[in-house]
Amino acid sequence: MTEKIVSMIALLSAAWLTMLSTDAIAEEPGETVFKKNCAICHTVDAGKNKIGPSLAGVVGRKAGSVPGFAYSAANKKSGDTWDAQTLDTYLTDPRKFMPGTKMVFAGLKNPEDRKALIEYLMKQH
Ligand code: HEC
Repeated sequence: MTEKIVSMIALLSAAWLTMLSTDAIAEEPGETVFKKNCAICHTVDAGKNKIGPSLAGVVGRKAGSVPGFAYSAANKKSGDTWDAQTLDTYLTDPRKFMPGTKMVFAGLKNPEDRKALIEYLMKQH
């Protein structure tokens, strides 16, 4: 009887560990793109600005509207709203879309990466 319980516990913890590790492997593709390309300068935590403004809730947000972040005039006055389309064009070549931006980033040239990244950003609130 005790032996049975012990083996059941062992089985359950093995299953639990498997779940944990597959979870870690199954990171969203967009999150990987974010960590690799954006996370040095941006967070997806509300109110946490780094070199760039927080990207929490960026999709649907007016450009240049994070309180307390010192934007360039170009970003602040662009009049753009960040949605899937504007983000896609911006992230392909930031300085072409927004001349005068102080975001020093050459651009994300792979369309798949941009798509995955924007899908990830849509979920960050
Ligand atoms: C080297 C630092 C750096 C990197 C890397 C970087 N950014 Fe930025 N980002 C900035 C800065 C600085 C600004 C503010 C630009 C301005 O005021 O002109 C900015 C602005 C932005 C804005 C406009 C935000 C707003 O509130 O209007 C978006 C969107 C953005 N970045 C997304 C990204 C994404 C997505 C990536 C990764 C693919 C990325 N950035 C990579 C520094 C960076």
